[in-house]
Amino acid sequence: MAEQTNTPANLKVTIDNITVEVAPGTTILQAARQIGGDVTPPAMCYYSKLEGSGGKCRTCLVEVAAGSAADPRPMPKLVASCRTPIAEGMIVKNITSDRVQEARAGVVEFLLVNHPLDCPVCDQAGECHLQDLGYEHGKEGTRYEFKRRTFEPEDIGPYIQLHMNRCILCYRCTYVADQLTDNRVHGVLDRGDHANISTHISKAIENNFCGNMIDVCPVGALTDKTFRFKNRVWFTKPVEAHRDCDQCCGKVTLWQRGEDVLRVTARKDEWGEVQSHEGKPGWICNTCRFEKKKASDWVIEGPTKINRHSVIAQGHYLGLKKPTETLPAVMDGRDPKLMMDIHSVSEVNRVDISELPGPATSENFKK
Ligand code: SF4
Ligand code: FES
Repeated sequence: MAEQTNTPANLKVTIDNITVEVAPGTTILQAARQIGGDVTPPAMCYYSKLEGSGGKCRTCLVEVAAGSAADPRPMPKLVASCRTPIAEGMIVKNITSDRVQEARAGVVEFLLVNHPLDCPVCDQAGECHLQDLGYEHGKEGTRYEFKRRTFEPEDIGPYIQLHMNRCILCYRCTYVADQLTDNRVHGVLDRGDHANISTHISKAIENNFCGNMIDVCPVGALTDKTFRFKNRVWFTKPVEAHRDCDQCCGKVTLWQRGEDVLRVTARKDEWGEVQSHEGKPGWICNTCRFEKKKASDWVIEGPTKINRHSVIAQGHYLGLKKPTETLPAVMDGRDPKLMMDIHSVSEVNRVDISELPGPATSENFKK
């Protein structure tokens, strides 16, 4: 599915009063992405680079006010835009429909029935799609009176931390395992309220491309064990970098704190999906992701452009203007005499967080 085809664009569709021409077979969601901005419905399970994804979460619901030019009757129910193909003359409403906004708030409420509100300790905070949705559509209170569903922790391997309580069962990680790795050893087990992501027989997920499961997970259910609890993502500086890798495209984002590389991820596009390079999805291998944690392992290209609405952009790494240093001018070119250099009297800043095998704790900073 998925990536745009080269078929000529010749079907007209109007989404929130904006008309665009798309190729036959294009879905409403893909057409809305061509327009961009707020017109584009959110997508928690659809992932254009993963065959078969979509149709699970219902966050992308839209109203079809006219089915096509030939049959302009409205569709009676809201439809999943990631799964509904365009017809000539179709008229779609997303942000201009009160029904859609109400239904989306309902979907978010359902997703949050079982999802723990542990953003203050979750590594995905600041880049979590459910957090964004909750912010836009969530309610202050809950109508749910029962205990949240919980699962026993399961160790799924050396690289990835599974936090099943946070999983929204979007299936993206299972598609990654199916389509990118040789042997899928995990999946969705059981059904209904008991459905959960598991390896069942406690197999380790170790395949060389399994780290991409972390990148596609829209919530904090799968996180990077080498980055867990090391830093809040908005305190880190995202930098584009590449290396010559014989297993993957080698194009990544380094998440740095000072010179330390705390995390390596694939580069993401404006929809939060892995960017494509030369027409192919830029999945990265585990070697690049988990083992190259030194800035010297990489050729640095420059700061990553982050959407200004993202909390990560609050670091203002792009277009940074440093105030002019006036002391040397005042002192006639001489450096000021320091009473104390913090680096010579404290070991605190000598801990290389990227070298720690697990989470950074106060133990690591004790002398
Ligand atoms: S672990 Fe993440 S990617 Fe996998 S099904 Fe759950 S929410 Fe989706
Ligand atoms: S993105 Fe369409 S149903 Fe989940």
